[in-house]
Amino acid sequence: MTKTFAVIGDPIDHSLSPNIHNAAFRELGLDCTYIAYRIPKGELAAGIESLKSIKIAGFNVTIPHKVEMLKYLDWMDDNCILIGATNTVSNDNGKLKGYNTDMDGFLDPIKKRNIAIKNSNVLLLGAGGAARAIVVAFAKEKASKITISNRTKENAINLAHLAQKLGIVVETKSFQEIDASTQYKFIINATSIGLKNETTPIPKECINKDTIVYDIVYMPMNTDLIVQAKKNNSTIIYGYEMLLGQAARSFQIWHGIDAPYDAMKKALLGGF
Ligand SMILES: NC(=O)c1ccc[n+]([C@@H]2O[C@H](COP(=O)([O-])OP(=O)(O)OC[C@H]3O[C@@H](n4cnc5c(N)ncnc54)[C@H](OP(=O)(O)O)[C@@H]3O)[C@@H](O)[C@H]2O)c1
Repeated sequence: MTKTFAVIGDPIDHSLSPNIHNAAFRELGLDCTYIAYRIPKGELAAGIESLKSIKIAGFNVTIPHKVEMLKYLDWMDDNCILIGATNTVSNDNGKLKGYNTDMDGFLDPIKKRNIAIKNSNVLLLGAGGAARAIVVAFAKEKASKITISNRTKENAINLAHLAQKLGIVVETKSFQEIDASTQYKFIINATSIGLKNETTPIPKECINKDTIVYDIVYMPMNTDLIVQAKKNNSTIIYGYEMLLGQAARSFQIWHGIDAPYDAMKKALLGGF
């Protein structure tokens, strides 16, 4: 019987996850299909029931359900507990198991480049769900200090509490307070800034040849932050690399085999 997988969220029609996973199924000749399923906020319980009724084999979870989905899980892995959100669910005979592959998906492109994280100074823009996974990632890899800068100060402070709990030195700043003379090893954008071609609030002086600039916004690929990084010869990590990293790990969880990364990458880049 064909196994069905899905990504749930709202909005969902522009999701690239079906392209990525269906390409993997084609590459490996798996009798599986992957669909995008819109579940509006407030309708998660009913949405999950309908997924169970079609015997969904597994699904990815995106905005706005990553946190609320925890309520419906029968089991969750340590990353879900730490991050407080899930992006990957498997259906084991009606029992829903939750995982979070955002954190390792975020780290994958850094590790592939053999860039050391230990003892590094990090500037993180954002304090939403993705930023939470990123703080846990930097704490796990023993970065020395993280500066969280966010539009809403209160959200930055809440995330700073998590960083503190995980033993990482942390400070919060408004965008205006970012110090142009500080050398950060990593500059990460985990806000939605860039989705609509907005200008980055990061001072240009912070972006130089010794900086690793990682913009997790993947559409468009060349955000203003990435353009600035190119101009200043920084090391660049694109948002699509995190997207592929988390998808490859979800694939591994569901199918128990390594994901065909190159076929997934080709399908994803064709979608741009
Ligand atoms: N590459 C990947 O695999 C991947 C994975 C996950 C997410 N993402 C991308 O990362 C971004 C954040 O996702 P998320 O799940 O963390 O969303 P989220 O939980 O809704 O958080 C959104 C973040 O963006 C900030 N923000 C939103 N609009 C803003 C604006 N106009 N000006 C300044 N800041 C703004 C929010 O600040 P406030 O606290 O002030 O609201 C918050 O920090 C999205 O663009 C998403 O597409 C990429």
